[in-house]
Formats: sequence, C-alpha cells, structure tokens
Amino acid sequence: MARMQHFGWFFGRGFGPQGWLRDDYLWGHRWDRPQLYQQSAKELEQAGLDLLIVEDSISPGPAEQLDLRVRSALGAPKLDPLLLTPYLFAATTHLGVAPTVNAGVYPPYLAARQFSTLQHLSDYRVGLNVVTDVKSSRHFGIPELDHDKAYDRAEEWMHVVRQLWHSWADGAIVEDTDTWRYADGSKLDAFQHRGEYFELDGPLNALPFDKPGNSGDPVIVSPGGSGRGLAFAGHNSDVQLALAPLDVESIRAYRAKIHAAAEAEGRDPASIRILFVFTPEIVSSDDEAERLVRASAHPSDADLHEVIERQSIITETDLTGQSLDAPLDLGVFGQHVSKGSIGGLVGKHDPETPLRELFIAKYRKGRITDGSGSVGTVTQVADFVERLGEEAGNDGFIFNGDLHPATVHRILDRLVPELRRRGILRSEFGGGGLRANLNDF
Ligand SMILES: Cc1cc2nc3c(=O)[nH]c(=O)nc-3n(C[C@H](O)[C@H](O)[C@H](O)COP(=O)(O)O)c2cc1C
Repeated sequence: MARMQHFGWFFGRGFGPQGWLRDDYLWGHRWDRPQLYQQSAKELEQAGLDLLIVEDSISPGPAEQLDLRVRSALGAPKLDPLLLTPYLFAATTHLGVAPTVNAGVYPPYLAARQFSTLQHLSDYRVGLNVVTDVKSSRHFGIPELDHDKAYDRAEEWMHVVRQLWHSWADGAIVEDTDTWRYADGSKLDAFQHRGEYFELDGPLNALPFDKPGNSGDPVIVSPGGSGRGLAFAGHNSDVQLALAPLDVESIRAYRAKIHAAAEAEGRDPASIRILFVFTPEIVSSDDEAERLVRASAHPSDADLHEVIERQSIITETDLTGQSLDAPLDLGVFGQHVSKGSIGGLVGKHDPETPLRELFIAKYRKGRITDGSGSVGTVTQVADFVERLGEEAGNDGFIFNGDLHPATVHRILDRLVPELRRRGILRSEFGGGGLRANLNDF
C-alpha cells in the first residue's frame, strides 16, 4: 500500500471573480454570492480533501497600478474571506477552511476573537493562513515595515494570539445550573503584553476551546518561502503551503529547512504538514499530452495576453506596453519589485532574448513524466504523486485554482478515484476537526 497523503485546495484568486479569463466564467455563477463556493466546497469534501485555503490581499493596489490590478480581475476586486468562511462551514461537515489573515493589519485581540468564534461555529475546522504582506499598510495608517521586520511582528502577533486563546485556564467554565455560576473569573488571565509591536491586555472575551492543551487551537497555515518564511513555519505552523519545484531533491531540501527550524524551537518536526502547490493538467492519452505540450510552444494572441497580464501583476510592473520583439530592459522594474519575481520571468535566458520568448517560455507546458511540467494522464499524475510520497517523504499537495465547479472537476474527476485505489487519498474523515484530520496519518 502506498503512503497516505493530505490534499487541499488553494483558491488563489481569493474571494474574487472565479473563472474570469476562462470560458468557465460563462457558466454564469454569481461570484459575489455564497452558492458557487458552497457547491465547490462540498465537492472538495466529497473528494477527501482536508482543507481549503482562501487567498487574500486587502488592498486593491497602489494608485498607479489600479487599472493593472482590476482590468483582468487578477488583483482586485476581492471580498473579505473571513466573512465567506461560515457559509462554507454551513455547507460541509469535515472540510477545514483557512482564510488568509494579515498579521500586520489585524489587531491580535480581534483576530484571536474572530478565529475563536469560527472555531466554535465550525466544530474545530478553522485555520488561519498567516501572511506578512506590507503593501496594505497605507489603508490602515500604519508604517510599511521591511520584509524581516514584518516577520518579527508576525512572530509576536502569533505569540500573543495564542496567549489570548489560552487566557482561560482549565476548569474556568463551571456551568453549574444549581448555583447558576457559569464561569470562575479567578481562572482568567488578565495578562499584560508589552511587546515591540503590540501592547494589549488579556484575557480574551471568547469561550475557551474544550480540547486538551493546544489540540483545540485553530490550525496555523503559512505560505512564506523566504528564509524567514520557512523559519516562521518551523516555529509556528501546522501546515506550510509550499511553493517549490516538484522534484525529489527540492522537496527534501524544503522539508529539511522547516524541520530544522521546528527542532530549533523544540517542536516535533513530524507535527508539521508541508503541502506543495500543484496544478496537474490531466489528459486522456499520451498522444494528447504530447500534442498539448507541442501546441504550448505557439500560444495564441489571447493566451499570450493573459501571460503578460499575469506577469505584470506578479512583477508589480505593467509590461503590456513593452515591445515584444526587443529584449526586456530590467530598468522597467522599480526597487520594490521582488528579485524572485523578476528571476521567475527572466529565468536563465540570454539577456538578448526578445521579450516574446520570455512570455512564451512562461506559457510553455511540459510532461509530468520527464519533470518538465504537469501535463499527464491520470496514471502518470498518480505515479508522480505516489513517487514523491515514497521517495521524498512528501506529506501531500495543495491544488491551485479558482473555486469554481469547472476547475474543481477538471483537476479532480479522474484523479480522486485513482489516488483512492492506490490508498494515497482518504475516503473518510474521523470527525474530530481539521487538526485531528491532519494528524490522522
Ligand atoms: C503559495 C503562496 C501563497 C501566498 N498567499 C498569500 C496571500 O493569500 N495573501 C498575501 O498577502 N500573501 C500571500 N503570499 C505571500 C506571503 O505571505 C509573503 O507575504 C510573501 O511570500 C513574502 O514572504 P516570503 O518572502 O517569506 O515568501 C503567498 C505566498 C506564497 C508562496
């Protein structure tokens, strides 16, 4: 029997126009209503996925990039994922949901209370996807910290959120209907936190979790991939949303970094589930795979336009006006643009390469069988998933796509039965909530 793995879904556009830029949009679902998401969440639960992570960015972007971010709906509009979450819980029984929370802008007391409430409402199925983006600071009148300081702040935020969750000692809830004493105030911790970034007093005004130790806490998810991001995961996270090349060596190296950070903090590395972002493209035959890969070397104008829009969002620079036949002038990128994003576009290409070639390379698909991409038959994709479980000790994968029935079915319809047949994907849940599900294997 192959190794069981955990699977999730990252709904990478966030609570925005699902399906936009694809014909899927013409199904006519209302993206600003809950039914579309409820329908998809039910399918994910039926498919045996453990959790759904909802991307978010609070800001529509800086003034000079508003058109860039809204015209393809890749950056905005977005509604608040925290408010969508209870609708998803209402439609499901086992699926965990982790909305994104920015540790820089949510006051820790407010976040601790909201997530405590969601944990109770969902019967222990909520997670927090903790991010450190600083670009929305201007909407809150707070200073924009640099990358590492934003992580320092997030570490302190996480510490104090946990302290708030545990500010009611065991036995604080009495619920004695003879005396009508509901709780014992002497068991509440009116602590005073005076840190570098936050000053606040406890205790939290919420019902404590009625599971022992930390086992009732909401699940902490993190996506940061820098050294600081991986250390944050090692210190704090139950699930890491990992973005890395999908080969045995890269997965082992990524896991080792998080495990080392966990050990340095005295945590058991085996308690962290590291799930790699994966978007398989499943085809019916080897011939079809070959055709698709070959055709991707010649994108249509519309396909190329979508690549340019996406790369413009990723590099925070409008590239649509650049000549496609000239080499890319790196001077177009401001100082603030992530070197990783520029590197992702430029890759290892010769500096004289025309821009069109760089975009075509981004569009190009590859075969899963030779490690050049994610196109394969269901057998080939399942072989790949199984091999990374066996050889890299992989904990599992997060599929990435809009939360739209067409996207969900495209990725999962054929894969779910095949993974179940091999004993890699669960067919039932225990009923103890998200943390318990993640600890099932
Ligand atoms: C797979 C993945 C998903 C992310 N999702 C979000 C998100 O939903 N919202 C957000 O503000 N940042 C998101 N980020 C950005 C990270 O939170 C973080 O701000 C950024 O990656 C910088 O951290 P790093 O340098 O450690 O990677 C994501 C990053 C990755 C790799």
